[in-house]
Amino acid sequence: MKKVLIFLAAILHVTVHSQKLEIDVDVEISQPEEQPEQSLGQLTEDGGLEFVALANKYGFQASEETIITEDGYILSLFHIHGNPCKPMLLIHGNTATGDCWIIRGNSSLAIALARRGYDVWVTNQRGTRYSRKHIFLDPDLQPDLFFNFTFYEQAVYDMPPIIDFILQETGQKQLTAIGWSVGTTLMYVLGAEKPEYNDKIKLAVSLAPISVLQHLRGLGKWGAAIGPEGLGLLNLADVQELLSYHQTTPVLQAICLQPGGYELCFQILFFSVFGYDPDGLEPEFQNTLFGHFTGGSSRKLFSHLVQVIKRNKFAKYDYGFERNLIVYNSTEPPEFDFKKVTMNSALFMGKEDFLGTVADAELLKGLLPNVVHYQVLPYEKFNHIDFVWGRYAPDNFHPYLMEVLDKYE
Ligand SMILES: *[C@@H]1O[C@H](CO)[C@@H](O)[C@H](O)[C@H]1NC(C)=O
Ligand SMILES: *[C@@H]1O[C@H](CO)[C@@H](O)[C@H](O)[C@H]1NC(C)=O
Ligand SMILES: *[C@@H]1O[C@H](CO)[C@@H](O)[C@H](O)[C@H]1NC(C)=O
Repeated sequence: MKKVLIFLAAILHVTVHSQKLEIDVDVEISQPEEQPEQSLGQLTEDGGLEFVALANKYGFQASEETIITEDGYILSLFHIHGNPCKPMLLIHGNTATGDCWIIRGNSSLAIALARRGYDVWVTNQRGTRYSRKHIFLDPDLQPDLFFNFTFYEQAVYDMPPIIDFILQETGQKQLTAIGWSVGTTLMYVLGAEKPEYNDKIKLAVSLAPISVLQHLRGLGKWGAAIGPEGLGLLNLADVQELLSYHQTTPVLQAICLQPGGYELCFQILFFSVFGYDPDGLEPEFQNTLFGHFTGGSSRKLFSHLVQVIKRNKFAKYDYGFERNLIVYNSTEPPEFDFKKVTMNSALFMGKEDFLGTVADAELLKGLLPNVVHYQVLPYEKFNHIDFVWGRYAPDNFHPYLMEVLDKYE
């Protein structure tokens, strides 16, 4: 009976939430202490706070800046105010937002860096929750035009004005950048396509690097196999935006924060995609995570990643034989030239990462001309998402990163 009541309360809560009413229906059902700590269906306070509010809560002054790209996208850039002589840029991965760096609160990387005095700047790539704006395109009315981008545009159009803005604001000639997952892809594409930006980056730290993708493991590998057909169908159905905050996040909350939700969302789905680490990602964390994730992406970006995997080439978007000729003056899309990515690169990998695998990082190390640090983290279960969301990242990752950062100060 008690279980039924709790379940009903949970369902009610989800329904109310999805209608965006500010009513708290989580009536404190009187019950003995044996009940688990996790309140079903409900977000934690941190689950409901955006980046700037979280930075304030954990003790730092922060603000949100606006950057307008050459092609009209209006990007949000978060800033935790620190020592302007130590600018640090954090570049999130696909389907995340800048929030990913701070939702572990006091033990998150953004706060750890702020404590060390860094002036922390945090991107929100085009198309994501905070950067779903354009000077004349409407993402809801013109999705085919607004979401016509991949990681290529995010690298070549989003990164330069962000980097230039930070250097201008801080009066520095160089900044340190940390990319996670597809955030690392952006650094490689930027270095290859806009080589002058190599000199503006003192050190580029790659967490779970994504570029050479020949050794995927887990569900991602199977997803890539059926990807072209699946994504092709979405294109036919004219679905251009994927995993958006306003559409997908409420669904994840409705499913993952219910009884059995952790098993379904984390054990079955997340760990099959990102690698298996139940210790690092405990059930309670879902009540914060699903206030922020997913953050939105484009179908074309997923298509591009699938192409990289299937064609076995880190190259520009493949439009097909005829269109390639028009767009690239070549039937094949040009490959990105790693030799031009001359910035100092530090690579960090987890042994249990199913996407940014150690085997692929080995190949990448041979392609990048300037790898100054290469490290597979010792913790056996370190997976793709532990870099930003792992409960034990302050123990099994941050110290190694800080050591490398200190060397380049
Ligand atoms: C975060 O950690 C600091 C230092 O350990 C502590 O003083 C502060 O109260 C913590 N903040 C929150 C909101 O937990
Ligand atoms: C998308 O962009 C590509 C190249 O940047 C262009 O060739 C194509 O026409 C665009 N598609 C739409 C629907 O605007
Ligand atoms: C297109 O490619 C051909 C053959 O590689 C080359 O001769 C020609 O100059 C190129 N045209 C342009 C406009 O770049």
